Amino acid sequence: MDEKNSIYGPYRPELEKIEKELLDEIDTLRERLKQKNGMDPVEHCLSRIKSEESMREKCVRKGLPVTTESALTKIYDAVGIRVVCAFIDDIYRFRDHLIALPGTEVIEEKDYIKHAKPNGYRSYHMILRMHQKFYAEIQLRTISQDTWAALEHHIRYKHDIGKSNEELIASELKRCADELASTDLSMQTIRDMIFEDNGKSETE
Ligand code: GTP
Ligand code: MG
Repeated sequence: MDEKNSIYGPYRPELEKIEKELLDEIDTLRERLKQKNGMDPVEHCLSRIKSEESMREKCVRKGLPVTTESALTKIYDAVGIRVVCAFIDDIYRFRDHLIALPGTEVIEEKDYIKHAKPNGYRSYHMILRMHQKFYAEIQLRTISQDTWAALEHHIRYKHDIGKSNEELIASELKRCADELASTDLSMQTIRDMIFEDNGKSETE
């Protein structure tokens, strides 16, 4: 798509630069922790520039004019990065690393891990403003949280679920989210015990 038709106008390359900068920083900490602990803290990492279509749709949904200005200054997830970690502790390590970067300003943080959403959704969300210019949304979650979010997302967009089933599905999903959260905590405890046994600190 050429610049004239893109909702991002001529700024797409700059958004891609921010995306790359953040991915490089995530990689730096990932390598550092891997060296230190002999274990990769990241299960996978995804990033994207929001598609033209979703950005336009989001402007409309938020009652904003469908303009480059809205896309870059009123909506904060033109750049989106999701880091899926093996353990809860690592989420907070990535969070601490990213907010300490030069040129990073924290606009918003939502800790849906300590404060899960009523439906059971858990993740750590951050909106960062980079170099006083462009915004990026970072989502940090564990593998279990990611699995749950994928299933919940799938169900939400499946419109042929009957009303009575809907309530049962929602309460079962919530139960799964809580069980997974409890398992995440147990896994963290096991890891802490292993590192203690090795006489090795897994902190940065
Ligand atoms: P926006 O105006 O869209 O930014 O909404 P918000 O700021 O109220 O959203 P929030 O920061 O809570 O969530 C933004 C993103 O997190 C969504 O686009 C999803 O990717 C993810 N998310 C939030 N809540 C849920 C949820 O209940 N289920 C799933 N599967 N994903 C969620
Ligand atoms: Mg948001």
